[in-house]
Amino acid sequence: MPIQYSLANLGASPVLAIAAELLIEGARLATMAGGGLGVVEDGAIAIAGGRIAWAGPRAEAPAISAQETLRCDGRWVTPGLIDCHTHLVFAGDRSDEFARRLAGESYADIARSGGGIAATVRATRAAGEEALLAESLPRLDALLAEGVTTIEVKSGYGLDEETELRQLRVARRLAEARAVSVSATYLGAHAVPPGEERSAYLDLVCRRMIPRIAAEGAAEAVDAFQEGIAFTAEECARVFRAARAAGLGVKSHADQLSDSGAAALAATFGAWSADHLEYTPPEAAAAMARAGTVAVLLPGAFLMLNETRKPPIAAFRAAGVRMAVATDLNPGTSPIASLRLCATLACVLFGLTVEEALRGITIEAARALWREREVGSIEAGKWADLAVWSVGSLPQLVAQVGPPPLFARIHRGRRT
Ligand code: NIG
Ligand code: FE
Repeated sequence: MPIQYSLANLGASPVLAIAAELLIEGARLATMAGGGLGVVEDGAIAIAGGRIAWAGPRAEAPAISAQETLRCDGRWVTPGLIDCHTHLVFAGDRSDEFARRLAGESYADIARSGGGIAATVRATRAAGEEALLAESLPRLDALLAEGVTTIEVKSGYGLDEETELRQLRVARRLAEARAVSVSATYLGAHAVPPGEERSAYLDLVCRRMIPRIAAEGAAEAVDAFQEGIAFTAEECARVFRAARAAGLGVKSHADQLSDSGAAALAATFGAWSADHLEYTPPEAAAAMARAGTVAVLLPGAFLMLNETRKPPIAAFRAAGVRMAVATDLNPGTSPIASLRLCATLACVLFGLTVEEALRGITIEAARALWREREVGSIEAGKWADLAVWSVGSLPQLVAQVGPPPLFARIHRGRRT
């Protein structure tokens, strides 16, 4: 219980005091509460039961008794970072495709020739659960070292029942192996498995896998890759209907390589997010805003595929679409285990402001996972997921590439 009432002396009125496990003080806070950065100079945060019991200006703090105090000496504190789109559980390596793209082949050419997603499917099917976990942990550790406290992890490199469920199990085991919160997403509709008939595969995804995954609580959401080399609008709509019927969230790999109306389709299903969006027409923004579908920008994939067409950021802003930024960490299009770098790229390549980028890897990313009531900002009642930074100014977090200036990382109230 964070709040305790104690009688300071007999006869006096009760004094409200917070019994905190950890008190953070001397900090500059970027709370992300409200519409902007929510800056609080000389702030304090009281943590009890793993949650934020109180946060605000030190001068306004109630009485706090703390078991431990973390003095920040003017350092900045942000919410723990949230990477809301990753494929980090996979086996194998596809660096050869980097060289092939440099020599002129496109991502779609490589996929059609049996490389791309299919190559990682072969490697992931061959890996046992322990091997998959062992291969995934260093990628997770790289994210944690830069202040990430929540990640999303997609399946989609198994494309058969056993391997997809293994990927989702490994995703959950990441949260047992490390101090991190994991949101798992079923991406069975990533590609048609080699040698299989597409409608029979979609039957497996929609009739068997989605209901089973929902019943077992193996994932919170369902994603589909709507693209010429993957699934059509009609096929994705079928997947999304099954997801909704099973009570799971909807996410979409939308309009990455061409405009197939994917962002608009996602919005009609009330998707939590539509991701990539390079070819999304500006007119889709209004429907996304109405549906509360977050635009998840993935500038790492844009960079590595040497794309030139950019997401319609101005239209998203004008329509009030929330924008998040994520790594898309995967072995092909975005082998980038740095969320901070992706925030930098979102500014440089897509024109986001520093404020948009920082909200994009905190509160808006939480929204893309439907976790904004639990994480993403520094507000009383939310989990105490925090990053303390040795920087003199907030822009420094994205204006510099290199070792993360992380001073402390706190997950659910525990310094890790
Ligand atoms: O988000 N676009 C589809 N899926 C992944 C890439 C998968 C892969 O190439 O392995 C992406 O870019
Ligand atoms: Fe992706």
